[in-house]
Amino acid sequence: ALRDSCTPKAQKQHQRSWKNPQPQASYKVAVLGAVGGIGQSLALLIKMSPLVSNLHLYDIANVKGVAADLSHCNTPSQVLDFTGASELANCLKGVNVVVIPAGVPRKPGMTRDDLFNINANIVKTLVEAVADNCPDAFIYIISNPVNSTVPIVAEVLKQKGVYDPKKLFGVITLDVVRANTFVAQKKNLKLIDVDVPVVGGHVGITILPLLSKTKPSVSFTDDEIHELTVRIQNAGTEVVEAKAGAGSATLSMAYAAARFVESSLCALDGDSNVYECSFIESDLTELPFFASRVKLGKKGIEAVISSDFQGLTEYEQKALEALKPELKSSIEKGIGFAQKQT
Ligand code: NAD
Ligand code: LMR
Repeated sequence: ALRDSCTPKAQKQHQRSWKNPQPQASYKVAVLGAVGGIGQSLALLIKMSPLVSNLHLYDIANVKGVAADLSHCNTPSQVLDFTGASELANCLKGVNVVVIPAGVPRKPGMTRDDLFNINANIVKTLVEAVADNCPDAFIYIISNPVNSTVPIVAEVLKQKGVYDPKKLFGVITLDVVRANTFVAQKKNLKLIDVDVPVVGGHVGITILPLLSKTKPSVSFTDDEIHELTVRIQNAGTEVVEAKAGAGSATLSMAYAAARFVESSLCALDGDSNVYECSFIESDLTELPFFASRVKLGKKGIEAVISSDFQGLTEYEQKALEALKPELKSSIEKGIGFAQKQT
């Protein structure tokens, strides 16, 4: 059931299921890039949500078929299709949540930063339309490189005079999902119980799983910590190589993004106990953006959970310092790109 995609706590609190849609479906969600590998699966998972009343699908081509297909599912949301720039404004009007997986994925041998030139422009154009048509919406950025695309979006929104840092999220839930899965496998734990905060960013060493903060509390050898950390950091590349030219993670990413969307809809709907990790504007470190656990509420980020950073192990402390230069330069590259455009 989709409820498995919520944080364990949120899941226990909301005993809702797509088979039993009791709560009032009232939120409008737009997916930009909805025909892609992530977009289609994500649209299906969002279509299963009992909290969604309208699902708007946007892409540059082939949206009609995906929307017609999805619209036959007997779940509450009404599915509408929007194709190309001329229909983008209508797609976005009145929307509460905008999820952006538009852009090109990696092939073997590429870094996420190799996607910058294409994806930076795609994200910038889409977010300009978001600013013009639904400036109050929560914005979730999936398009890579997240460490740069999120700062680009912040700049674009600032230039448009509608930036609310509490409503802009880089989606790094896949790193959390992977960390939970790998830790549960390694330690023979029940998957649904495991929760590992992942902080920093969404590339290589900038992805820092705080294994010492794993819930339930679990002890690791030094070798296990290193092996798990490196596997979580390289998990995207693991999928890119296995797909051998056919793209990067799509299904696990859709699952992870659906969990993030559902969590934030739970928060919008009044649940006061919703926590997720996200790459956000932050003053936790000297860097302007940083991923950490946040508390979600009706107005977006209600609190940044700084307590995760107390009592870090020496390994985590070193890794935290080591990731900062790379993350800083990716952030600056994004900001520089957006400022150069004006
Ligand atoms: P894909 O190529 O399968 O789909 C991308 C979609 O975006 C396509 O349907 C394409 O038509 C659409 N698109 C391109 N330009 C557009 C525009 N201007 N407006 C609207 N739509 C546009 O790729 P994918 O596998 O779905 O991956 C999408 C992005 O997500 C990539 O950048 C990838 O690196 C990233 N990604 C991020 C994470 C994460 O954890 N944040 C995980 C996996 C993938
Ligand atoms: C991932 O972590 O799977 C994504 O960022 C896609 C990629 O290029 O690795």
